Amino acid sequence: MDFNLKTNEKGNLTIGGVDAVELADHYQTPLYVIDEERIKNNYKRLYNAFSSQYSDFKMFYACKANTNLAVMKILEKEGSGIDAVSPGEIYTSLLAGFDPSRILYTGNNVTDEELKFAVNSGVRINLDSISQLKRLSKIPEAQGIEISFRVNPMVGAGHHDHCITGGPLSKFGIMEEEAVEVYNLAMDLGFKPVGIHTHIGSGILDPEPFMLAVRTLMDIAGRVKQGTGIKFDFIDFGGGIGIPYTPEESRLDIKTFAEKITNLYKDKLKEYELGKPTMCIEPGRYLVGDASMLLTRVNTIKQSYRKFIGVDAGFNTLLRPTMYGSYHHIVTAKTPQAEPTQKIDIAGDVCESGDLFARDRPMPDIEEGEVLAILNAGAYSFSMSSQYNSRPKAAEVLVSKDEISLIRERETFADLLSKQNVPVRLLK
Ligand code: LLP
Repeated sequence: MDFNLKTNEKGNLTIGGVDAVELADHYQTPLYVIDEERIKNNYKRLYNAFSSQYSDFKMFYACKANTNLAVMKILEKEGSGIDAVSPGEIYTSLLAGFDPSRILYTGNNVTDEELKFAVNSGVRINLDSISQLKRLSKIPEAQGIEISFRVNPMVGAGHHDHCITGGPLSKFGIMEEEAVEVYNLAMDLGFKPVGIHTHIGSGILDPEPFMLAVRTLMDIAGRVKQGTGIKFDFIDFGGGIGIPYTPEESRLDIKTFAEKITNLYKDKLKEYELGKPTMCIEPGRYLVGDASMLLTRVNTIKQSYRKFIGVDAGFNTLLRPTMYGSYHHIVTAKTPQAEPTQKIDIAGDVCESGDLFARDRPMPDIEEGEVLAILNAGAYSFSMSSQYNSRPKAAEVLVSKDEISLIRERETFADLLSKQNVPVRLLK
């Protein structure tokens, strides 16, 4: 994977046609820069690959990947739905203009208040446990509503243990062997079960686990249909499609992938006489992951026992390398194509030793003051950032055909303290 880096006449890295060095100078660093066209292209490529094979197809953007309102609005305009996992995500999606009917709420370990919020918002509810089902049945406004269940198909995959959501260790979903009973219980409680759902994990570049999950979920759907007579309106295979983060990884061939999945889907629909339910997927990373980079400035070069390049972002800004050991490709914004001359560690500004963006990374010559671009920082990057070490969160900029918009202002010190109260007795 060569990440298709673009440069301008000065040789500087560009994103969406805009000079990354100039963006860093103007908006300061650390700065997330998002390419609108890239998000749109990702959406269209994925949507077309599936809908050309099976026309009743819908995508629900897993907005936990990036909940910036502008990003959500771009996908709303493309026609996407939303996979929301919390009341906050429902609230944000409604604000971004998504009709409640386009929002599927898949919470786990939710409170009664959260269930009530979802019911009153009018979004579709996808249940994760019998406990949730029983508690939902006690909410008067929820009587008779359409629901679906997330099932653990005992297949899991993902780029890290934390991101595998199917299989015996996973907290998610109902067990496949209880599925018929749970759907029957839902009907006994007066609900209208209309869908079945799974999500096996995140960051998957191999089609095989998906195929296995599709096969298993369809078999479960078939058994549920036979055991309950339910006619499914939709079958949802969740998200998880990976993107290449390292130069060695290659992109999933999305056309072939979609073809294989839809063929299997159609075969299984026939086998179990399931009719023609809407086929759904919930991509997060695939839509936004490679559409953004994090710009950060080198402030310190230190030759200690090792050589450290110190930058002004840390795991408060981008957690993935520290949390999952994730690789993010890093280039210098003024010489993105330069050949490596050294192997160095790139360290953030958080007071923890684990705050490293790269260890022993081959990089070209780097000087203090220059800008580095951390690539593929569109998914689970800003959305997982924090104010740890009392650092205000970074700004976000959207670029589209040379047009630049500040879509999130940089936080200030006041933002760090805006919700705190000191008891009066301590002020005396
Ligand atoms: N649907 C459900 C129910 C999910 O839980 C997720 C992600 C998705 C869809 C979207 O998955 P995607 O297409 O983005 O892989 N923070 C981790 C990823 C956690 C994903 C959690 N669930 C990371 O940085 O890799």
